[in-house]
Amino acid sequence: MKRDTRIVHSGLHPEKQLGAVNPPVYHVSTVTYPTIAAMRAAGHDPFNGMRYGRYGTPTSQALEEAVCDLEGGYRSVSTASGLAAIAGALTALLKSGDHVLVADSCYGPTRRFCDEQLKRNGVASTYYDPSIGAGIADLFTPETRLVYVESPGSLTFEMQDVPAIAAVAHARGALVVMDNTWGTPLFFKPFEKGVDVSIQAATKFIVGHSDAMLGVITCGNHDLWHAVKTSLAMAGVCAGADEVYLGLRGLRTLGVRLQQHQASGIKLASWLQTRPEVVRVLHPALPGDPGHAIWKRDFTGAPGLFAFEVKPCPSSSVDAFLDSL
Ligand SMILES: Cc1ncc(COP(=O)(O)O)c(C=O)c1O
Repeated sequence: MKRDTRIVHSGLHPEKQLGAVNPPVYHVSTVTYPTIAAMRAAGHDPFNGMRYGRYGTPTSQALEEAVCDLEGGYRSVSTASGLAAIAGALTALLKSGDHVLVADSCYGPTRRFCDEQLKRNGVASTYYDPSIGAGIADLFTPETRLVYVESPGSLTFEMQDVPAIAAVAHARGALVVMDNTWGTPLFFKPFEKGVDVSIQAATKFIVGHSDAMLGVITCGNHDLWHAVKTSLAMAGVCAGADEVYLGLRGLRTLGVRLQQHQASGIKLASWLQTRPEVVRVLHPALPGDPGHAIWKRDFTGAPGLFAFEVKPCPSSSVDAFLDSL
C-alpha cells in the first residue's frame, strides 16, 4: 500500500464492527460475561481483546495499530498525553542505578521529568549536545541504559544524527527512545533509523485540531512493548475513549494536512529570512540550515513548526508583533 492509502486504512477492521468503516467509540470500564465459564474461556490476557477499559478497547487498539503501522514498529500503547507517553516510556525502561543520555534540546517538560522524577527514582541524566553524532560514545558509562533523542530539538531545531547515535547505543547495549512528534509517523521512519521506542505527542499533528490530549508509544519488538504496556497498566495510564476517537479521526487526514503545513512553513520561513528584523531562521528544511543535510538524508518532509530569532528590540515590539498575529 502507498503511504496515503495506508493512512486511510490502517487499524480498521470493518468485519469486526458489523461493517462500520470506523470502530465505534467504546466507553468502557467493567466488562461483563454471561457466565463464569465464559469469563474463564475469554482467557487471562488483559492486553488483547477487552477485559477492562483501562487496559484497552477496540477503539484504542485501532489507534495503536494504525500509528504503529505508520511508524513501522511492532506494537503501540496509547496514553492520555504526549508527556504521559514520554514519562511512561522512561519509567518503564529505566530503573534505579541506571544512567540516561538526553538531548540538551529536548522538550522542556521532558527535561524536568528527568531532573526531578527520574532523579528521585535513582536514575542519573546527562545532557548531550544534539549535534554530537557518533561522539556520544565518549559520554557512555557502564550504567548507561538509554539514549533519548529528539530531532529536531524543541524550540531550537537542531537535527540529530539518529542512525549514528543508535549504532553507538546498540553497540553498548543501550536503547534509543525518540520523541518523533515533529517528524510525525509520515516524515521520519524511526525504526528504519535505529530507534527502539518512538513517541508521538499525538496531541499535535495526529489529533490535528487542538481539541484533545493524546500520546502514543510505539515499540520495536514484543519485549519492549510488553515491558512498556505492563508498566503503564500498573500505573493506571490509559487514553480516554473520545480522545482516541479524535486521534483516529485526525490521523486519516494527516497526509493532506502535512502537505499544507510544510508548504506554509517553508513559505513563511523563507519570507522571514528576507526581513531586516530577523537574525536567523531555524528550519531544517531550508538549505543553509545547519541541520539541512541530515534532514534531507533522513526525513521525507517537514511540518510547519519552526523558529526564528529577531534582532534585539524592546519587548513591547515583540508583544505588538505577537498581538497582531
Ligand atoms: C516535541 C513535543 N513532545 C512532547 C510534547 C508533550 O505533548 P502533550 O502536550 O500532549 O503532553 C510536546 C508538546 O508541546 C512537544 O512539542
